[in-house]
Amino acid sequence: MALEVHALRIDPVSEVVLAVKQLPTSSVVRCASAKLPAPSSSSSSLPLAISPSSASSYPSSCAGLSKLRSLTSGSGARRAWRVTASTTFFDGETEQVQNQPQTQDTIIPVLTLSQITSRLQEEAKAMKYECFRSMYSSVVGAITTDVAAMVLPLDDHMVHRGHSVFDTAAIVNGYLYELDAHLDRLLRSAAKAKITPPFDRATLREILLQTVAAGDCRDGALRYWLSCGRGGFNLSARECDQATFYAIVLDGNHMNDDVSAGVKVITSSVPIKPQDFATVKSTNYLPNALVLQEAEERGAFAGIWLDDKGFIAEGQNMNVAFVKDGNLLVPTFDKILSGCTALRMLELVPQLIAAGALPGLNDAKTKVISLEEAKGATEMMLIGSGVIITPVVMWDDEPIGNGKPGPITLALRKWLRHDMMEGPAAIRTKIQPKISR
Ligand SMILES: Cc1ncc(COP(=O)(O)O)c(C=O)c1O
Repeated sequence: MALEVHALRIDPVSEVVLAVKQLPTSSVVRCASAKLPAPSSSSSSLPLAISPSSASSYPSSCAGLSKLRSLTSGSGARRAWRVTASTTFFDGETEQVQNQPQTQDTIIPVLTLSQITSRLQEEAKAMKYECFRSMYSSVVGAITTDVAAMVLPLDDHMVHRGHSVFDTAAIVNGYLYELDAHLDRLLRSAAKAKITPPFDRATLREILLQTVAAGDCRDGALRYWLSCGRGGFNLSARECDQATFYAIVLDGNHMNDDVSAGVKVITSSVPIKPQDFATVKSTNYLPNALVLQEAEERGAFAGIWLDDKGFIAEGQNMNVAFVKDGNLLVPTFDKILSGCTALRMLELVPQLIAAGALPGLNDAKTKVISLEEAKGATEMMLIGSGVIITPVVMWDDEPIGNGKPGPITLALRKWLRHDMMEGPAAIRTKIQPKISR
């Protein structure tokens, strides 16, 4: 992907300032050491395309450009947004990412539906959202594969009040992994959020299956939301006539991500959500997003939450587990989200131990785990649909065990991946072929 940069200027200390078009608010990237050619004018409309090859011709000592290079070779604007929004974008004192409001010097047009539709289509093309394969919306009662039509009504209480819940199931090798466990959790979350689904469970499941089939996706993720519904901009759910249901299919294989080096985590300073909210997978992920932002600012992959009593809780969007004295220890789920992946792992471990597939491991259990106990573990891992099982090698700048991915963690990762690719039919739902209608 070529990053299209729509403004370029050199500031008084010769820092290159790039405004990257894909960002939702025109984020500005400062790169102190880049030797980019000075633009002929400081106009804010100087077009410049940075392709992976042109980015790589700049000095590799410039962390900003090497990051840009990794951005440009990435898989689209979502990735660009995530990395650029992080303040770890640069290393060094001058590194920062800021949002700078732009002056709008045009008269804003008032458009018809068809004009808006063509603008949305242009925008979708420019953004290269090719990984968004299909979307279902109960508002229109249909599935679309046209990215421009993958929109939400602003008056949905999911948008302006966060009164909604969601879940995600991985799509692996042409199968949905643990769809039923994830759907059950969605319905539990909905009950806690007092959202009555617009359809019964079987219908919701069938909608999800048809959305995945329409997306023609073999590896990726299925995300879905149940919202209190649309009807106005007040807080009360009374103005919502009916709950809404949305689903999207995202293409992309994460199964082969290399974690051989392990990842670094920090203990988060962000207050954890109270028990009643932490156990619901609601769309209120502001605390979770801030945990990740803090981790990224400190060069870490994830932040680890402690609960209100200082015991180990979970990561921003994953569970955590430890190996200590031959035992696999998972924090109890009463104050955190009960991860489908961690539960599946706990189900598999006794069978794997019995089969001699996990040498050195005697037992697996959930328990209340103190920070001291966790820090004395020989192995630590992150667990979730997104990370599968990922070894942690550093925590708050201290090594875990010998500072290398642990053998039990790596074996568990291998067996879980095997379960995802070739596990029993009961936990893998085959994706039907795409039907053209
Ligand atoms: C807060 C939180 N904890 C744990 C998990 C792991 O859950 P799962 O294994 O179902 O992906 C997630 C993932 O969505 C999460 O958001």
